[in-house]
This record gives sequence, C-alpha cells and structure tokens, in this order.
Amino acid sequence: MKYKIVTYGCQMNVHESEKLAGLLARAGYECTQNSEEADVLVFNTCCIRDTAERRALGNIGVTKALKRRNPSLIVAVCGCMPQQEGAAERIAAHYPYIDIILGTRNISRLPAEIERVLAARAAQKRKGRRTAATDMPEDYLSADEATPTLRTSYPNAWVNIIYGCNNFCTYCIVPYVRGREISRSEDAVLDEVKRAVDEGYGEITLLGQNVNSYGHDLGGGENFARLLRKIDRIPGKFRVRFMTSHPKDLTREVAEAMAESDKICRALHLPVQSGSDRVLRDMNRRYTREKYLAEIAMLRDLMPDIGLTTDIMVGFPTETEEDFQGTMSLVREVGYLNAFTFIYSPRKGTPAAAMPQLPYEIKKRRIGELIALQNSVTKELSERFVGGCYEVLAEDIADGPSGKNGMICGRTDGGRLVNFKGSPEDIGKFFRVRITSSRSASLFGEAEEKL
Ligand code: SAH
Ligand code: SF4
Ligand code: F3S
Repeated sequence: MKYKIVTYGCQMNVHESEKLAGLLARAGYECTQNSEEADVLVFNTCCIRDTAERRALGNIGVTKALKRRNPSLIVAVCGCMPQQEGAAERIAAHYPYIDIILGTRNISRLPAEIERVLAARAAQKRKGRRTAATDMPEDYLSADEATPTLRTSYPNAWVNIIYGCNNFCTYCIVPYVRGREISRSEDAVLDEVKRAVDEGYGEITLLGQNVNSYGHDLGGGENFARLLRKIDRIPGKFRVRFMTSHPKDLTREVAEAMAESDKICRALHLPVQSGSDRVLRDMNRRYTREKYLAEIAMLRDLMPDIGLTTDIMVGFPTETEEDFQGTMSLVREVGYLNAFTFIYSPRKGTPAAAMPQLPYEIKKRRIGELIALQNSVTKELSERFVGGCYEVLAEDIADGPSGKNGMICGRTDGGRLVNFKGSPEDIGKFFRVRITSSRSASLFGEAEEKL
C-alpha cells in the first residue's frame, strides 16, 4: 500500500506532513510521488489567503477522475482549510469523493480513520465510509507527543515548540483554525532536538506562530529565552533557527540569548506587516513603527551582522497611499535581506473582512512598487557579501533539473543563500565559503574548507 501527501502552506504544515508520513509509515504504507500509484492520497491544506485555498481545491477536484480509475483510492483532506467555520461540511458536500476530513488537531487519527473507511467498504456499509473530525481536543499534546515523525527536510529538522495562536490580528485566519496557544514541555522539546542532532541534522528550526510566547501557559518560569539557552547547551555541531517572532513579544532576553549563544543563528524573521501606525492599530498588531524600529536597533546593537527578514502586507482595508508610503520608507530604513510580500486577502469570519475593501488595481500597484523596492535593497545588500568568508551548511543540490553542474547550495548563519561547487554527499556538512559574486538574492562562492 502506498501513500502520497500534497502539502500547502507554512513550515508548520510541512512539519505536520512529516507527522502524517510518520503515521502512515508506521501503519505499513510506503511513500510515492505518483498520484496514479497511491492507495491513500492526503492533502494537507492551508487557508491563509484565497490563492492558497484555490490551489488546494483545484487539486482536490482532480481526484474525482483518479478515483474513477481507482475506486479503492482513499482521499483525505487535512489541515487548516477544513478547520474553518462550516468548511468541513462544505467540502464534504462539494467533493463527495473525499473519504476523510481531519482538522488541525486531529491528524494523529489518520491511520484509524483509514481503517474505519476500509472496514465500512469491506462490509459494504454506507455508514462510516466518510469521516470528518474537526474538534479541538483538550489533550492534543499527549496525542501529538506520541506521533512519529518521518523527516523529509534533511539537514533541517523542524521542531514544534508551541501550537496555536492567541493574537487575533484582524486579517488573519490562523487563530480560528489553529486554536489557542499550547506550549510543549521544555523536556519534550530538548529531547526532540537531541535526537535530531544525534541523527545528524545540522540545522534545527523551532516552530510556532509566535515563538516568543513560548512557555507562558506552562507556569514553571518557562520562556523562549530560557529555552534557547538550554538548546544552545546541547552538545554537537548544529545551528538553530526559529520562526515566527511577533514584534510585540520580542524581549531583550531573547536577543541576548541569541547574541551570547554558539548555535543560535544571527538571523531573525520579524514580520512587520505595515510601516503605518494607524494600519498596525487596525490590524491589532499591538506595536508601533517606533517600537519596531527600536527593536531592530537593539538587535543590531547586540548583533551587528544579524540577518533580518520580514513579512509585509499591502492593501489592508484601511491602508491609504500615505500609509503605504510609510511601509516603503520602513523597508528602506530597515534594510531587510529579504521580505515575503502579500496582497491582503479577506478571510471570512475575521474582522478585517467586514471592512470596506480596496480595489484590486490599487493593491496590485502597491505590491509591484514594494517588490521592486525590496529587490533593489536585496541586490544592494547581496553585493556587500562579496569578498567575505562565511560558514555555510550545505542543504541541497543547486543544479536545477539538469543536475550536471556540480553545484550545491546552503545558507550563511544570517540566512543568506549561497551556491558553490560540491557533490550530493556534501549535503548536511558545514563549509567555510568565500563569496565571489552575487546576483540579486543569491550569492556564489568557493568552498575553502570543510568544517
Ligand atoms: N504567525 C506569523 C505569520 C503567519 S501567516 C506571524 O505572526 O508573523 C504568514 C504571513 O501571511 C503573515 O505574516 C502575513 O503577512 C500573511 N498573511 C496572514 N493573513 C493574511 C491575509 N489575510 N492576507 C494576506 N496575507 C496574510
Ligand atoms: Fe496570524 Fe497574527 Fe497569529 Fe501571526 S500572530 S498567526 S499573523 S493572528
Ligand atoms: Fe496556512 Fe495554516 Fe500555516 S492557514 S500558513 S497552513 S497555519
């Protein structure tokens, strides 16, 4: 029996697909990339923007034909999309050939639900052929800790530290589909990191919608800075990244823990969303432009070479031209290595979706201007790396489809992508690389030493 998992959305979902794969592997299934060959087809979905939903729904629609050719195929839709209010029912009604629907806190049930569907089919019963679970069980963590993981991102190991989100930014669907914050215990996190390091993973990425609120719900003095310091003391050669940090909760202690560590990368993804105080207030972000810029100054004071990246949205309902220019000037002022830019997409049930919306033409022009500006900032910052020497963890082959040029790629401590000559066996190893040239977001170099 074979399974295929199709993943949409953020790193959290990528990691949860590794758990779905772990569950299916434990149940005896093998992985395939070929839909025609699969006995179980899983869609792990996202609903952060309309485009993400459409992409998933389009591909789910295609399974109708697959199922006509292979009636024994089992199709499961998991993750954020069916967790939206009323969405599981809508999906089931619209796509009757879907067998299993699981929300964000029910993924551990997948093998049992497959068994249930198979048993109902074998008994030729109608009942039980289709199942849906989108409740938010209180004891989610115990099920989660018992879920096996089949890692697929070597040499990076994703490690979740906190689930859910309590922030309710007015544009965002995540708190509705991921539930309230639950932190894993320090011991559970430290054990998972140690295991990954023992298995040879050179990079650990800690995950949470807001890693800075880690531990507040545990009540034993746990917090993110303390967790970082404990992880830093784990023996072995590895580096640590984390995402995402909410600017309202970033503390000096976290910045100090980073600056004083051996293993925590000098890199921070700090989503700003907008450079206008009024828009930030309407977004319920709970920081001002001034506070954000003070944090950037504090980070640079402690770590002058820190690599900063961000998320920015244009076209929020109340964004005026002046507000947008505020975002542009902030981008110039901070100098991000990279920015993920989005057009605001109304999400049903969120407060911002009920506000009067801006015309698409305005949003489109603004995103174009923002991307052009960030590209020029990225290009200029890239040029400054040329001539320098950086420690790089080789992560992947960088040849494109041909695979014949002998190029590999990896990232500097600060998160900059570097291409250099190497072979697939080098993946997972650390190199000292001299940067010889740059092209917009990419750097090119030569390995001087294997570390
Ligand atoms: N928890 C993270 C972000 C999760 S979503 C944080 O707080 O930063 C990733 C990014 O998607 C967000 O930073 C935001 O820029 C974008 N995003 C979220 N909701 C959106 C929406 N409705 N339309 C467009 N972009 C959105
Ligand atoms: Fe969404 Fe805001 Fe939570 Fe991030 S912090 S997941 S943007 S509600
Ligand atoms: Fe998407 Fe859910 Fe992540 S909505 S961005 S997959 S938390």
